[in-house]
Amino acid sequence: MKYPLLLLLAQRELRSESRLRDILWENLRVNASFIAGVGSGIGAATSERLAAEGAKVIVGDINIAGAKAVVDRITSAGGVATAVQFDLADEQSTGALIQTCVDKYGGIDGLTNVGADLSPATMSSDLDVLEMSLPILERTMRVNVIGHAFTCREAIKSFLKQGTGGAIVNVSSEAASCGEDTRPAYAASKAAVNALMRQISLRWGKEGIRCNCVAPGITMSATAEEQMPPEFKKQWLDMTTMKRFGRPEDLAATIIFLLSDDASWVSGQVWHVNGGSHFHG
Ligand SMILES: NC(=O)c1ccc[n+]([C@@H]2O[C@H](COP(=O)([O-])OP(=O)(O)OC[C@H]3O[C@@H](n4cnc5c(N)ncnc54)[C@H](O)[C@@H]3O)[C@@H](O)[C@H]2O)c1
Repeated sequence: MKYPLLLLLAQRELRSESRLRDILWENLRVNASFIAGVGSGIGAATSERLAAEGAKVIVGDINIAGAKAVVDRITSAGGVATAVQFDLADEQSTGALIQTCVDKYGGIDGLTNVGADLSPATMSSDLDVLEMSLPILERTMRVNVIGHAFTCREAIKSFLKQGTGGAIVNVSSEAASCGEDTRPAYAASKAAVNALMRQISLRWGKEGIRCNCVAPGITMSATAEEQMPPEFKKQWLDMTTMKRFGRPEDLAATIIFLLSDDASWVSGQVWHVNGGSHFHG
């Protein structure tokens, strides 16, 4: 026999989906969670999974129709969620968003910052360092970095007021670390998100506040499907150990783990969820 019997039994038990769900449910213990920028893609998958695990979710997005569609799916599946419109570029609205979570659900246990300005107008003007313009640089930093900083600041204030600690997961990107010949402003903004996460983790760890980043490889959200050039996708797939693109659910699973108490000793890390694309053969 290759493996001890006990281990085999444990593996069989863990393979049962409902058992896994029970474990996560128990460890998540989320009364009120808060997701930012989730009208579609990775954020939508994370909100839906989080609600399925029993969390109450505030689904915030600049695209209120998208956020409402996510909430409709959650509530028709028996979950609890509220859609709120906000703009990462607007300091006041990020504060109001966190306050809505506190008012509506009595507190906040977790924040996931998923939103980024991936609009064609911004991305199609972010091609080369020689063509960088102040408006595109400012817009990218304003939404992708400053917006995340504001939501983190407001969530941390609430965690401290509650005295509960809390978990933050910010979505950055492989672009922050792997190097690309395009998207200089986007890459710089995502590297800044990683740096912000490390500061929060270091400064607030002793108060029980954890902060991590998830850096996705190419993940087939509608935005990625529509906007990423086929040659870029092919090049990336060639360099990836697991020969497929990510699904939003792949990212949601890691984010949920990092929000849960199972990750209570995990902070200050960038989690590369990318099908092994850093291991070029
Ligand atoms: N999909 C990928 O291949 C990939 C790879 C690396 C990193 N990422 C990162 O993952 C995150 C989600 O991307 P996605 O692919 O799911 O795309 P997506 O377009 O589905 O998600 C982005 C969300 O941000 C929202 N948003 C945009 N501007 C906003 C603002 N000012 N205020 C509030 N919300 C705003 C959008 O409405 C949208 O719902 C982004 O941060 C992106 O940079 C994605």
